[in-house]
Amino acid sequence: MSESSTGGSDRKAGFTRRRFIIGTAGVSAVAALGGTVVRAPRAVANGAPSGPPTTTLPLPTTTGPEQLLLTWGGDPAREVTVSWSAPGTVPQPAPTLAVSTEPITAANPGRLIKLPDPKPLDVTQRYEQAASVSFTDGLNGQTTYFYHVQLAGLEPGTRYYYQVSDGASTPSTAASSFETAPSGRARFRFSSYGDLATPSWDLNTSGNIWHESCDNSWYAVTAIENPGDGKGAPLFHLLNGDLCYANLDVNNAPGVWRDFGNNVARSSAHRPWMPALGNHECEFGVDTMSGHPGSAAGGVAAQGAAGNYWNGPYGFGHYLSRFLLPDNGVTNWDGNRLRGNFYAFGIGTVKFISLDADDIIYQDGAANYVIDTANTAPETTTTGAKIPNGTTTYTRFYTGGLTHDAKDDSLVPDYASGRPNLQTIWLERTLAQARRDRSVDMIVVFMHQCAMSTSVPGNGSDLGIRQAWLPLFDKYEVDLVLSGHEHDYERTYPVRGYDAGELGTVAAPNPGQVKGAAVDTRRPAVVTTEPHEFNGTPAWNTSEGTVYLVLGGGGTNGPTNTYGTDTADDKPQAKVITTRNAVVGSEATGFSKNGADSVEDAPWSAAINPTDAYGYSIFDVDPGQRPGETTITFQYFAIPAVTNEAGSAHDGTTTLPTRPTEKFVFGRRVGRP
Ligand SMILES: [Fe+2]
Ligand SMILES: [Fe+2]
Repeated sequence: MSESSTGGSDRKAGFTRRRFIIGTAGVSAVAALGGTVVRAPRAVANGAPSGPPTTTLPLPTTTGPEQLLLTWGGDPAREVTVSWSAPGTVPQPAPTLAVSTEPITAANPGRLIKLPDPKPLDVTQRYEQAASVSFTDGLNGQTTYFYHVQLAGLEPGTRYYYQVSDGASTPSTAASSFETAPSGRARFRFSSYGDLATPSWDLNTSGNIWHESCDNSWYAVTAIENPGDGKGAPLFHLLNGDLCYANLDVNNAPGVWRDFGNNVARSSAHRPWMPALGNHECEFGVDTMSGHPGSAAGGVAAQGAAGNYWNGPYGFGHYLSRFLLPDNGVTNWDGNRLRGNFYAFGIGTVKFISLDADDIIYQDGAANYVIDTANTAPETTTTGAKIPNGTTTYTRFYTGGLTHDAKDDSLVPDYASGRPNLQTIWLERTLAQARRDRSVDMIVVFMHQCAMSTSVPGNGSDLGIRQAWLPLFDKYEVDLVLSGHEHDYERTYPVRGYDAGELGTVAAPNPGQVKGAAVDTRRPAVVTTEPHEFNGTPAWNTSEGTVYLVLGGGGTNGPTNTYGTDTADDKPQAKVITTRNAVVGSEATGFSKNGADSVEDAPWSAAINPTDAYGYSIFDVDPGQRPGETTITFQYFAIPAVTNEAGSAHDGTTTLPTRPTEKFVFGRRVGRP
């Protein structure tokens, strides 16, 4: 690619050109695929709306429970949190949850838990077992309601039935059941993707199109309930950030979240969905409680003067109202408890860790108002809130700072500042505990942004993750790292450490950078490009190196599955973000924003999928016979794009393939005698 690194990848013994996955395009007959999905029909009354609404649309005033959502507590064998919502802006009169190991009937009313009156979201407070939370959107003024019951003391591997009621004089109810996680060494299945968004108008509760609406979001949820191999739905799902892109609909974020909640409820009423925070969970609003207002033209003062801050703590108000996640026990420097921002839970022989990479990446967030036109008026919402031109969200170091450590070119918690990065401290403590725990064989991290991606239209690889967390993933031998953010699929070879001295090149300089200059991208070092074999399936030994999977094809409109190649040597090339992407300009001239600043040769890229942007992953955990023998069999199933995705309504059908495009075994003993 560049003078500074030509030949670098040639020196890597055994380097092979990454594999192009054979996608599903060209598979013609529906009958050949099986697993055909029939959509739920909806009445077509007024035809398709033409695009995202520019006014605030009213939400229902009914109270019947909807958006059922299960999540794990810290011990999934014994703790499950049941959450649901009122449809709109009216609280439920007297919400209750009934739970039993037998179906809830008149004869078996179950154990009844009554919820308290709603209180506004306040993350400085601890939650009782049952909590009702209200959240007022800062940009459109709508208040919506969320109900949570943290069930504890459950039996492992047991099915529980539940029913929620609004407690109205003629009550409305909704019911489902779930299974607790098994205890001890056990087999189980989980699934994952990120970047889901909402379906389009005729499959949305609201009947509206939002930004990023796409019917692939519908099929992504359908697929989790009926995976292509016919071997049944997973125990739980990992949702790797960019849940619904509500921050792009500044007049209707609560409505977008409602459509998201009802789409995923087709699965999350039956099994836990465990999210990670992505850049689209950060929303503009009017809340100063975090002390971290966004980055505006003219600085914080200008944005504050315009009345625009965050939508709840760090902009995550909707997320933190909707999800009551395992408690990490960490209180931020500003007094906010960080419950749900990052967390861990263990099932069988696997430890799962959800991280918020917004805290350590160089790139900015996804609430932006950056217009390259002179004297552009502020974006003004229906409540009169104003977002000035040149405003972007930037939450790097919101849990404290990091400082450079020359020893391994890493970024480590900055204790000297008095405010070290709390998430990174928690991460190391959690990883160390997991590796000391003899019952834990494998560690799976899931987060939103990518340490490695060769997508060209996507965001690229973020040096911040490589500097702050890859040294920890190496030290504690994390087995798999799942992400989203790029709306595509990519798999790396096992990597460990970094190629010291291998430099990238500045291609799109930010202020202070020189185009063509060499830049240190801390490029992850490939351990091997040749898989082992395990029971006839290609297998990677993750004790040798961590495998990174980009799984961002949940369903959002806007695929990014075009991948970089260095035209000089035909080898993979990645964009790398090594500095904050600057917003440059002024009110008088308009503003523009830079993307990734640099490029590097990317020998770590093992597989890409230029054919299908969408898909879901199925992971089957087998604990083996003895400690250390756990394997995870991974299958990636593509979901072909809906038939007329380019149309204004993205209103189409697709079929769900029954064969995976990739299948591998990951384990720490595979390939060893
Ligand atoms: Fe996304
Ligand atoms: Fe993203």
